[in-house]
This record gives sequence, structure tokens and C-alpha cells, in this order.
Amino acid sequence: MKVALISDIHGNAAALQNVLLDIKKEQADKVFCLGDSYINGPNPKEIYRILKEQRIESVRGNTEDFIIDANRSNRNSESYLKLKDAIRPSVGWCSEIFSNEEIVDLSRLPIDIIYKLDEYYQLHVFHASPGDNRGILKENSDDAVFDTIIQQHQSQIFAGGHTHNTYVKRYKGRIFLNAGCSGICMERMDAEQGMILYPGTEYMLIETDGKGAIEIRHKRIRIDLAELIFEVDNSGMPLKEKRMEMLMNINTK
Ligand SMILES: [Fe+2]
Repeated sequence: MKVALISDIHGNAAALQNVLLDIKKEQADKVFCLGDSYINGPNPKEIYRILKEQRIESVRGNTEDFIIDANRSNRNSESYLKLKDAIRPSVGWCSEIFSNEEIVDLSRLPIDIIYKLDEYYQLHVFHASPGDNRGILKENSDDAVFDTIIQQHQSQIFAGGHTHNTYVKRYKGRIFLNAGCSGICMERMDAEQGMILYPGTEYMLIETDGKGAIEIRHKRIRIDLAELIFEVDNSGMPLKEKRMEMLMNINTK
């Protein structure tokens, strides 16, 4: 069984298409999307269409909750007004351009999906941590955090996104992983410069052989940033000059 995990697409259809093409080449049996699919990119409606058309099962990220809330409250709710400046305009835009039917669809997305890979491995996918789409589960979170998850949940593999910081951690016989960001992903965190972006996208593959063996692979795929910058420029997304500047500053060497 081969499962692909994509996460945090953030409205970036060019990145999603590249990831899905690679997943097709890998002949994955199943794809799960770990949420935060729409805000802060030029193509939220296109992402919705692709995920639906390809019947990709998704969990609900915190930013899906923000869109649903902004749509229902007509952007007057306290929670909407409290959103950070970097995301509020995009949340507002998504809440406007999605139809009522699409918003209902988003609100029906589960927080967790549990999927049996074979008789040895069960996979638990979520956005941030099991049962919660907002908390932070880092590779170096306290052991007590991982111990609590193990005590409360039965799966062998726990997979989330949310932080854009990919890792695979083996702990007390379980596997914890973060699929990273299938939009424009982070290359590394620099002490002085902060987040250094990679000129492309990433996802995770889990493969089991049905006899107890498991292989986990993290893949990064370069994408044509010029095409993406063009798409941003021609979209109706808010703060697009800022986004284009960010993309133009990515080191492609
Ligand atoms: Fe998130």
C-alpha cells in the first residue's frame, strides 16, 4: 500500500498540479490532504475543483475554519477581526468567492481520518495534532505530548501539517510525521534570516509491504516560479504585490 500525504497547499494550483503529477508517477494508491488548502494563494477555487475532481480525502485545517466563520459572520465576527493582518484579507476573499454549497462542503470536512494501511499499520491523519486543527506538534515537542497521543490513540502512524516544517520522528514504536507544505515550501529556518523558501513544493509518501516493513519518503519538486508569479499577478487575490515580491526573492540556484 502506497499513500501520499499533501498538506498546506495554500491556494497554489501550480504547486498542487506538480505534486499530483509526481504522485501519479509514484503510482500511489491513495492521497490524503491535511488541510490549509486555500488561503494566501491565487487559486483557491481551482484547488477546491482539483481536490473534488480527484476525490482526494481532506481533513479540515484551521484556515478552513477561518473561511467558514468569515462567511457565516459576514466578516463581522470577533474571531475574524482578530486574525493576523497577513491572512485576514485572504480569508475574507475566500469567504466571498466560495459558494454557499462549497462552504457547507468545507464545514463537513473531518478533523481526523483514520485509515488502515495493512494488518500492521494504521494511519491517523489530521491538520495540527490528533483531534485538534490548531495546536502545534513539533518534532521537539515535549515527550509528554507524544506520550499523551500514544495513550489516547491506537494508530501506528500519526501525520499532520500546519507548521510547514517537515519531519519524520520515531518514538516508542510509533511514527510521527509532518508532511510539510505542498504550496511553496520552506527550505530551512535560518537563525538570522528566518524562513528560507524553496523554489518548489513537497509531500510525503508512506509505503508498506503488508509484511511489516514500512518506508517513508519526503519528496521536494521544483516548480516554475515565473508561471506562479504570472498567476498571482492575474488573480484577484489580496496583497498580491507582497506575494509576488516574496516569490521573486526566492533563490532558484
Ligand atoms: Fe494551519
